[in-house]
Amino acid sequence: MDQASSAMLKPGESAATLAPVQDFIAELHARVSQMSGGKVADYIPELGKADPATFGIALATVDGEDYATGESHHGFTIQSVSKPFMYGYALQHYGRQYVLRHVGVEPTGEAFNSIVLDEVANRPFNPMVNAGAIAVAALMPGSSLEDRIATMLNLFSDLAGRRLEIDEAVYRSELATGHRNRAIAYMMLNTGMIDGDPTEALDLYFRQCSIIVTCRDLAVMAATLANDGVNPVTGVNVIEPHYVRDVLSVMNSCGMYNYAGQWSYEVGMPAKSGVSGCIMAVIPGQLGIGVYSPPLDAQGNSVRGIKVCQDISNEFELHAFNNRTNVRNVIRRFYRGDRVRSSRLRTAEERDLLEAQGAKTAVIETQGALFFGSTEQLLRRIAEIAASARYVIVDFKRVHLGDAAARKLILRLAHSMRGGPTQLLFAELANDGPLGPLSRELAEHETERLLRVFRDVDAALEWCEDQLVLDARKYPPDPKFALAALDVFKGLSAEEYRLVETIVRPLIFDKGELIIREGDQAKLFFVLARGTVSVQIRVPTQTGEKQRRVASLGPGVTFGEMALFDGGARSADVIADERVICYGLAVEQLQQLAVTHPNIMVTILTNLTREFSERLRHANEAIRTLE
Ligand code: DON
Repeated sequence: MDQASSAMLKPGESAATLAPVQDFIAELHARVSQMSGGKVADYIPELGKADPATFGIALATVDGEDYATGESHHGFTIQSVSKPFMYGYALQHYGRQYVLRHVGVEPTGEAFNSIVLDEVANRPFNPMVNAGAIAVAALMPGSSLEDRIATMLNLFSDLAGRRLEIDEAVYRSELATGHRNRAIAYMMLNTGMIDGDPTEALDLYFRQCSIIVTCRDLAVMAATLANDGVNPVTGVNVIEPHYVRDVLSVMNSCGMYNYAGQWSYEVGMPAKSGVSGCIMAVIPGQLGIGVYSPPLDAQGNSVRGIKVCQDISNEFELHAFNNRTNVRNVIRRFYRGDRVRSSRLRTAEERDLLEAQGAKTAVIETQGALFFGSTEQLLRRIAEIAASARYVIVDFKRVHLGDAAARKLILRLAHSMRGGPTQLLFAELANDGPLGPLSRELAEHETERLLRVFRDVDAALEWCEDQLVLDARKYPPDPKFALAALDVFKGLSAEEYRLVETIVRPLIFDKGELIIREGDQAKLFFVLARGTVSVQIRVPTQTGEKQRRVASLGPGVTFGEMALFDGGARSADVIADERVICYGLAVEQLQQLAVTHPNIMVTILTNLTREFSERLRHANEAIRTLE
């Protein structure tokens, strides 16, 4: 907490007390604690010992923040809430097709311990009912039961982000009384729905149900599913995103058994309940919820747990079908290259050219998530703009997500525009960024020159400007500016030119060479005769500092002029982007020359001032356009 914000808090108040979510669940807990009704499960005798008054609520966000109230540290056995994770593990280990042959994804509308099996497909209906969960346990890989138990415990410990243990008393109680499950297992063995010794599968199943967790653990496990399978606290990648989607789909349709329909209708979150009185619910991309309160309703779901999830869903509108995706704002901004130019400083002649031709370059800034709906909007806009643009730059800087549908559509567009009248250019498509897969796919098409990808919009704009200048210019691409052709000396008499030539030092710098160093005393100013240079400043970072490119300069443009104005220390580094030729003018010599020929200095300063005001005018125009 920085100095400024601590000054803002009232006496005795701290940042921790500013927690509206925490306040809400504390109020919710107090309110729901008043609820009565329900019965503690005792068909597993050990479970019957639970204190019905114990009640905890916990939330965990996808960036690892957690909120908890009530008995949120109280340990209880996870029971059926273990089933979605074992299913996810099986999918990840064997793949969808293999697992689908062993367990279906159809809700039964029956109770969790239903002995009804899908005899048509010869498999249990889904992995959320006991039959399906036992079939999934039978799939757990490993050379021995001990091996399989260890793998299972590692899975749940990774999900909770801490080492979990098994409640031996509950496990033995299940083992001693799990006759119905035993019957289900042997029925499945009988029809070949499971292979091998059902007692081992049952043993593993009873142990997974007997893992001790708390509400906080369930919230973190749920947040791991909400976070595409990555534990938000530890960063461990537990389940691959595409299998997370499968797990959430089955939780949504089957997780609450014969209450699933009503739950989906009223609460609208993929969830899973456990007979110990716990409920885990997931809000994809946002949050995980864990609730514990032993008294169960007729369907075997925690009475208070359901109420808590209903109220959180209603209060914060977390129902999965509350449409929160707005495909229309995928385009943050659109502008053209006559209004906004690159940071490349250009001669007056080039600026005039771009004033006239710049509109041939169009820039579309995108933002948010790229999925089918938003990408379809974007592509329609690109197609529309392409009709009146030579170059279309798409800036992905503010895109935080791009799914496979977006990638496929964008690649299709790139293919359809290749070789056409309008060139498509992309910027800010980092390989390690949210659109990394697209960047890598485009790189695979590098040879086909599908499209050009630039590190940022500035570089893309500069490239388009160079193309437009090249197309419009009458002289060769890589001019060497003669002294007389330079804007800064425009207006000097022939005599004055001759005098200036006597103090000009032609300087050659190789690619990457430092021409000016930030902080050095400014004694020379330069005019670029050939090539381009970059102006870079050092900006502090968490780990030190990095170079930030603030401008680039092309032939005919001056730099280091501060030497002329205040002679102070250099404010930036200037580096040669390629082999460059400059004219260096020592300020001291120029000042000596000005003693006898003051018009030289007046003309140079006037031209520089005009140059600066032109840059300022254009900067204001760009700000106005980008507002
Ligand atoms: O197999 C059983 O019956 C228990 N171990 C798990 C059942 C359960 O959690 C049902 N959930 N509401």
